[in-house]
Amino acid sequence: MKKIKIAPSMLSSDFSRLGEEVRKISEAGADMIHFDVMDGHFVPNITFGPMVIGSVRKFSSLVFDTHLMISDPGKYWKAFADTGSDIIGVHIETEMDHKSIIKDIQQYGKKACIVINPPTNIEKIYPFLEQVEQVLVMSVNPGFGGQKFMPEALPKIESLAGIKARKNLGFEIQVDGGINEETARISKEAGAEILVAGSYIFKNPDYKKPIESLR
Ligand code: DX5
Ligand code: ZN
Repeated sequence: MKKIKIAPSMLSSDFSRLGEEVRKISEAGADMIHFDVMDGHFVPNITFGPMVIGSVRKFSSLVFDTHLMISDPGKYWKAFADTGSDIIGVHIETEMDHKSIIKDIQQYGKKACIVINPPTNIEKIYPFLEQVEQVLVMSVNPGFGGQKFMPEALPKIESLAGIKARKNLGFEIQVDGGINEETARISKEAGAEILVAGSYIFKNPDYKKPIESLR
């Protein structure tokens, strides 16, 4: 079976020493690093922008997976690409021409991810599945770490896994929100290939253990 990838979300890390945290999580066996960018508009919380992510780029050689929870990703994605993000995730719920922004991100040499919130119908992202490298299924309403996993995500993951297999598509299926040992297990059973986890990993002082237990 294909190895499950773990993407720790820096949202639950100690921001006062973000660079060290990025280094530590990379050494603990993470496969990629997930950055939650929030603008206080698309979601009711504010985190950090491209300059902060750029400032910690030198602390890790892992893939930087940037989850843009912002209302206008079209205006800002390039700033994230320029400061070291490798994968750029845009929400289907934003008002924009998704097809053309995804194409722009890829032509700029980066990978594109389409993200879908719990209340949004999975069919909304079907038109992009042949185009993107990654699909992110939210299993909480975005904005905060430490929330409870919403099982509504599971049939979405199953349906994506089915389409991927049937059409032999290349996108990877990622799940984000409320991931712990139990919800990791059911997400993997449903077909998730990349698990994003914040609080579950960072609450343990030894990051290696939770990363291993999620796999
Ligand atoms: C939620 C973020 C998640 C979050 C996950 O808005 O997209 O990445 O940090 O945190 P946990 O694992 O604590 O639910
Ligand atoms: Zn996220």
